Amino acid sequence: MRKLFGRKPIAELMAESEGTGLRRELGVKDLVMLSIGAVIGAGIFSTLGQAAAGELGPDGIHFVRVGAGPALIISFVLLGGVCALAALCYSELASMIPQAGSAYAYSYATLGEIVAWIIGWDLILEYAVGNVAVAIAWSGYFVSLLSGFGITIPPWMVHGYREVLLAAPGSELKPLMQTAPHLLGIPILINVPSFVIVGLITWLLVIGVRESARVNNVMVGVKLLVLAVFVIIGGQHINMANYHPFAPNGWKGIHQGAAIAFFAYIGFDSISTAAEEAKDPQRTMPRGIMIGLAVCTVIYVIVGAVATGIVPYQKLLANDPLAAAFDQAGLQRFSWFISLGAIISMSAVLLVFQYGQPRIFMAMARDGLLPRFAAKIHPKYRTPHITTIITGVFVATWALIGDAGETYDLTNIGTLFAFVLVCIGVLVLRHTDPDRVRPFRVPFAWPVCIGGALACVYTMFGLPGTAWLRFGVWLVIGLALYFTYGYKNSTLRNGTSQR
Ligand code: ALA
Repeated sequence: MRKLFGRKPIAELMAESEGTGLRRELGVKDLVMLSIGAVIGAGIFSTLGQAAAGELGPDGIHFVRVGAGPALIISFVLLGGVCALAALCYSELASMIPQAGSAYAYSYATLGEIVAWIIGWDLILEYAVGNVAVAIAWSGYFVSLLSGFGITIPPWMVHGYREVLLAAPGSELKPLMQTAPHLLGIPILINVPSFVIVGLITWLLVIGVRESARVNNVMVGVKLLVLAVFVIIGGQHINMANYHPFAPNGWKGIHQGAAIAFFAYIGFDSISTAAEEAKDPQRTMPRGIMIGLAVCTVIYVIVGAVATGIVPYQKLLANDPLAAAFDQAGLQRFSWFISLGAIISMSAVLLVFQYGQPRIFMAMARDGLLPRFAAKIHPKYRTPHITTIITGVFVATWALIGDAGETYDLTNIGTLFAFVLVCIGVLVLRHTDPDRVRPFRVPFAWPVCIGGALACVYTMFGLPGTAWLRFGVWLVIGLALYFTYGYKNSTLRNGTSQR
């Protein structure tokens, strides 16, 4: 048991991150931009619809979750609070342990190796699987933007196999099983745009953080502009009648709406994976995380209020709810602009998550829990190119044949679980290592950490049973891998850690 829960000394974590050769060139502004780049994306542009209107089950009649209605703005405010508690905890750990592995590295120092492995494995759900969902949502908006210009791509090239397989019986996608070209009796159903965008983003990240951060800044500027246009134009078409009833499904709707809308918040924590590339991380990381989260919460509440104000909330049950809301409010001439904004926003999300995942893999490989070759840094570009390419191949391949809906819940449950462990980790470290310098300290640590952990667990209970089941299966696979590889090769256990 003691071996399983071996803890990595923080000094060792810090020493490792000194010698990696990553460039320290990100300031507070870059971190806030990375954070907004990661946060505002498929959540506000796609899952907002399900959060407000609920989600229909496979029979097309019964709801698997009920929606919040206009009370979605309450879900957003509450989620902002839940995430702020977790963000405070992330900030303490990120400023104290400014290392690339994020929650993985923090838990290695606090809760022990096996918990660290579970968290690292779990973070794949947040980063890589989350990006599968975003890439598929990206493709949906891309296709509708093209169709607005009269360009159509054959349906078998824009819908993945699982998307068609899981579609409701009466859905217009179902016939594709027969009409798509077949190879050896299997229908070829592939989502080419999502594959291509992930490939492009991967290439950007391999060639270096400076280029990527600059591209990200431009994309963030555009996404804020598009949402501002949505709010200003949409705000003039609000019909107060749409706010009645305000909470059609009461607290249950607000709770279940929050559990899916949580996807919109994922990402503020991902900038902690950039700790090794931040200038003066002790000061910049907590500021970057908290400012980014505050800005996004305010934007979501305003966008949510406008979206549920311009159309009855039931009408938001679409793949492109914001564009659909404009269409129904007679503002079709602006819909293309919203679609374009969605594409750009989601590209920025893809960029930040494809940036974070390889750095977590890198930290795990450095510790011997994954093969060591994965931790190599490119001699010229100074980026973890091997893990960046592995992540790109994983995400692009899954997105090629996957279904977005299936991955939203899995991402949410995995991320909330990571938040729970981070909140607990702060308290454990205060107890086990009370004298270490904490450039940022969580105020009122006990209520904040315990409250944050409980709030995340409560949000998890708003997700359907299938999400819990899939999450359990994912963890079992991860544990099997740990005992067959990581347990034997851990540098901490073998005494081969670098200092
Ligand atoms: N928060 C990110 C998004 O909404 C994951 O796309």
